Amino acid sequence: MSSLDVIIVAAGSGTRLGLSVPKAFVPLMGKPILSYSLQTFLSHQAINSVILVVPDSMYESANRDYAGKRVKVTTGGEHRWQSVSRGIDISDAEWVMIHDAARPFVSNMVIDRLLAMKPKYDCVITVTPEVDTIRMYSGDQAGETVDRDKLVRVGTPQMFRKETLCQGLIRAKSLPTPPTDEAILMQQMGVKVGIAWGDPRNFKITTPSDLEIAEALIARSQQMSLGGQ
Ligand code: C5P
Repeated sequence: MSSLDVIIVAAGSGTRLGLSVPKAFVPLMGKPILSYSLQTFLSHQAINSVILVVPDSMYESANRDYAGKRVKVTTGGEHRWQSVSRGIDISDAEWVMIHDAARPFVSNMVIDRLLAMKPKYDCVITVTPEVDTIRMYSGDQAGETVDRDKLVRVGTPQMFRKETLCQGLIRAKSLPTPPTDEAILMQQMGVKVGIAWGDPRNFKITTPSDLEIAEALIARSQQMSLGGQ
């Protein structure tokens, strides 16, 4: 079986949360946001190692708290693709999953759906359906509606054959604007990108209200597991 590492990108500042701690390290029910997805990936038998890519300011504490037999810690770059590159530099696996630290609720089911697509695609992204009506706009005026049945929301984890991803990351250096994810780089190279249906609960924590929703979800699952005892 080919080897697989996970790179959790946690080097963003997350200014929209309005807190002084970088987003991935903000406590969620007493534990840093990034520790939730880390635990899920470490519990999956297909995953060799997890690489945490953290801001310079958090390197020392993250290295102390998480580095070990299956966890490596490194520092990130200015843009997301640069943080991914730093993680790739210390991976020796054939395949990698890239995951946003800001998505604590990744599940084994979603990981398995990505893995199932491995024989067919060098790159597979996690998507969820778009449920809102989506429109263009200009100034204070609504423009055309976009057919939502043709749209999906792109999330993480995203899975790549590492060699193909590395080619994309080389190209990223010469792009005028940084890509918002690495699958964009794949498509620009003509690589087909597969989709795996994700779970809307694996949303990205961006604003203070997202944090409240995340806390409520954890509290509910704690109550359910207590009820089941
Ligand atoms: O900014 P955004 O929410 O899109 O970031 C998605 C993920 O990428 C976050 O987990 C963030 O920590 C990470 N990131 C990073 N390095 C950057 C920018 C973002 O690791 N320079």
